[in-house]
Amino acid sequence: MKDLTPDRSTLDPIEIASRDEIEALQLERLKWSLRHAYDNVPMYRKRFEAHGVHPDDLKSLSDLAKFPFTVKADLRDSYPFGLFAVPRERIARVHASSGTTGKPTVVGYTQQDIDNWALLVARSMRASGTRPGDVVHVAYGYGLFTGGLGAHYGAEKMGCTVVPVSGGMTPRQVMLISDFRPTTIMVTPSYMLNILEQFHRQGIDPRESSLEVGIFGAEPWTNAMREEVERAFDMHAVDIYGLSEVMGPGVSNECVETKDGLHVWEDHFYPEIVDPKTGVPVPDGEMGELVFTTLTKEGMPLVRYRTRDMSRLLPGTARSMRRMEKITGRSDDMIILRGVNVFPTQIEEQVLATDGLAAHFQLNLYTKGHMDALKVHVEAEIGDSGGRAEAKRALAERIKGVVGVTVEIEVGDPGSVPRSEGKAVRVVDSRTKG
Ligand code: DLL
Repeated sequence: MKDLTPDRSTLDPIEIASRDEIEALQLERLKWSLRHAYDNVPMYRKRFEAHGVHPDDLKSLSDLAKFPFTVKADLRDSYPFGLFAVPRERIARVHASSGTTGKPTVVGYTQQDIDNWALLVARSMRASGTRPGDVVHVAYGYGLFTGGLGAHYGAEKMGCTVVPVSGGMTPRQVMLISDFRPTTIMVTPSYMLNILEQFHRQGIDPRESSLEVGIFGAEPWTNAMREEVERAFDMHAVDIYGLSEVMGPGVSNECVETKDGLHVWEDHFYPEIVDPKTGVPVPDGEMGELVFTTLTKEGMPLVRYRTRDMSRLLPGTARSMRRMEKITGRSDDMIILRGVNVFPTQIEEQVLATDGLAAHFQLNLYTKGHMDALKVHVEAEIGDSGGRAEAKRALAERIKGVVGVTVEIEVGDPGSVPRSEGKAVRVVDSRTKG
């Protein structure tokens, strides 16, 4: 793999500023953001008052813990535009997240917000090893989802040639990669596996492709998956994180030279980790739920937004901004199986470590007697005719040994696990209710 470490002179000075400088900027911006939310969004004013706090009470960054949380239901209750802090005419764009049921949650951006977002995605791409002038293949979905347009504006801002393919029509993705010769691809890791399969189907060696770096996010993925994709394509695989409520892709990103967790762009977002049960902030280094407060957003500021994503904060390495560890999973996706907490990423690691299995998997949670049971649906590698029984036994043993639960394994034919064109559906819950 090529050394894609960006030249230090190309970084934004704040990325490598001292902690004191970063924290001084955060405090100044946090004061503005709390005041902006309080003055312009009735929900925040009411909530702060009910909590007995006022923006003037924030004297230091740690005072933020006195302020109330915001949760996803607050966005739903304010559907569609109730949390906007500027007149609707100043909102340049809206995006929405696809709730599984009912109304989506809507977010709004001023022109300034869109500019900041593009800047942060460009910063993320630079950290990933993309350079101005590169051809960038964007296979995140375009539309209300923030992935496609978020990546697109960032790539344009960086001065790249953008190929706005969106997701789907996988054979055509491979044709366009072969013909346009992009060096960067931006796509969900699960769809990248789907594209990989298509390379093989068309008899094209993925290691011979022009791709040098993949910027993968929008769903949890493991270091084991990184190795799998890096080996298959002879390219760097770098993690990008974000959520529509806070902005979209580009809230944090790994650096290609270290790949040791995602640097949070702390000049625009203030991260906290809280105990998911009590809501009490925990010190850096401890696991818990990620919480973000926006520092510059005009259209829809967010105060202490609970993401439900599980991670921990670590000191900066390649940049002075703190890192968040690769997301273990969403608390919503955590399965509690006979008292043991199981995240799909833990199963992913074991699937990838088992010989004879492809990287695709899906979990089916069902009722057996009066108990919850879990079936792991995996598939045999193409060309692997014999060892299914052995793979099944080995995977069950690994999951029992490392994750600590007994599961049922189904090793299907190649192609039998549903493929994703965006975010993979990792858990299907078919438990009988009641
Ligand atoms: O998925 C934004 C995005 C697009 C990020 C493209 C990266 C790349 P939402 O649809 O609102 O926004 O979903 C946000 O996806 O709370 C996490 O649970 C999950 N997620 C996003 N990035 C990662 C990642 C976009 N790198 C939700 N690792 C978040 C793990 C991720 N989970």
